[in-house]
Amino acid sequence: VAAAAVVIHRKVKKSGMWVKAMEILKEFEEKCGTPIPRLRQVADAMIVEMHAGLASEGGSKLKMLISYVDNLPTGDEKGLFYALDLGGTNFRVIRVQLGGKRKGIVNQQFEEVSIPPSLMTGTSDALFDYIAAALAKFIAQEGPEFKLNPGRQRELGFTFSFPVMQSSIASGTLLKWTKGFSIDDAVHQDVVAELSKALERQGLDMRIAALVNDTVGTLAGGRHHNNNVVAAVILGTGSNAAYVERVHAIPKWHGLLPKSGEMVINMEWGNFRSSHLPLTEYDHELDAESLNPGEQIYEKVISGMYLGEIVRRVLCRMAEEAAFFGDTVPPKLKKPFVLGTPVMSAMHRDTSPDLKMVASNLKDVLEISNTSLKMRKVIVELCNIVATRGARLSAAGVLGILKKMGRDTIKDREKQKTVIAMDGGLYEHYSEYRNCLENTLNELLGEEVAQTITIEHSNDGSGIGAALLAASHSQYLEIYES
Ligand code: GLC
Repeated sequence: VAAAAVVIHRKVKKSGMWVKAMEILKEFEEKCGTPIPRLRQVADAMIVEMHAGLASEGGSKLKMLISYVDNLPTGDEKGLFYALDLGGTNFRVIRVQLGGKRKGIVNQQFEEVSIPPSLMTGTSDALFDYIAAALAKFIAQEGPEFKLNPGRQRELGFTFSFPVMQSSIASGTLLKWTKGFSIDDAVHQDVVAELSKALERQGLDMRIAALVNDTVGTLAGGRHHNNNVVAAVILGTGSNAAYVERVHAIPKWHGLLPKSGEMVINMEWGNFRSSHLPLTEYDHELDAESLNPGEQIYEKVISGMYLGEIVRRVLCRMAEEAAFFGDTVPPKLKKPFVLGTPVMSAMHRDTSPDLKMVASNLKDVLEISNTSLKMRKVIVELCNIVATRGARLSAAGVLGILKKMGRDTIKDREKQKTVIAMDGGLYEHYSEYRNCLENTLNELLGEEVAQTITIEHSNDGSGIGAALLAASHSQYLEIYES
């Protein structure tokens, strides 16, 4: 009798815990809701902030940074150019041989180097010396076919994916770090000057011809092979967008009117925030404990650096308050950022009947074994809630840009084609996220308008785009064929 009583007691306890766990999940799901009307409010709030950011410097949380790119690549660019792409846990050095008219890119090589985490929070010199050394090595190893004409200096496009207040196409000061970087002595410094000094220390004679954000590089790279590209969105570790604005619509621009009448704007949309964003207690806690509390709120709900961490936080609560994983909280689960978005995505995508991938990831990454199928289903559901909210909110951001550009309605059925270049690991590798983003955008636009809008994956366009912009801002004029 006593043994039976123990069993019953355990069962009751277990079912009580299960009820509690479901309560936590349901409440979270409700708070993450993104019905279409709310997404429209988010898009409209984004547009209000876009106007404010364009009106005056510091007028909005949306910086709407002027890129000094008033001409996008045409395909006429010619010659040998380099690019350096820095913005996440890896950086790339790239060499591009541009063929000029109609020939496009005739040769392209790159090397990817990972950045030791200690350099992401160290000193400016240490970071720039490290990337300059990698570039020097890349150049030292290049074959004789890459000889420059005598007396010529090598030219480089620098993709630096952080908020920078530019003062020309090839200069600008870092406003702040994002995405896990935090190097105090680099803030407010001219990043081109910092890189130039590091190149000199390596004995490299190279001119930095263009400084661009990854969104601007992606826009330039996208335009190079498709003339209808007018905006670019990055969904990776961080998230951001750039688009082509009419100079007349930029009151804070006091420079000359460019011939094109246009200017590429780096929105820095990651810093957007609005009362319409569905934020939960988990988001607030994540933010408070982050390297940049109070900042990059939109980025913290939609981008790759944070999605897995949100899932971890909810699981942690379920472990603590509902003993979801048994009597103790699995120690690994308490560690911030152990659950990366790639792992979340692998679990989310598991369609095997017994959710094998979920089980093996829980075991390998969190050291949690012996989960029941029912528990694994809950975890997949949790990934789905977090990814869906992020993807739908990013679709709202894209709608905001399209509306601002007047491309959310049809004016000329025959001619109107809008292409948005997209890139970033989240977009590229998390197919549930990508599909949800695209479906939501179509739903927001309606079938007829949706047919005029295409999202194009611009594979690593940001580096190529920087090389193209270096070419169009080269000190040697004959890069353009007549
Ligand atoms: C962060 C950076 C931004 C960049 C984006 C995507 O939001 O602040 O400059 O474009 O990440 O890499």
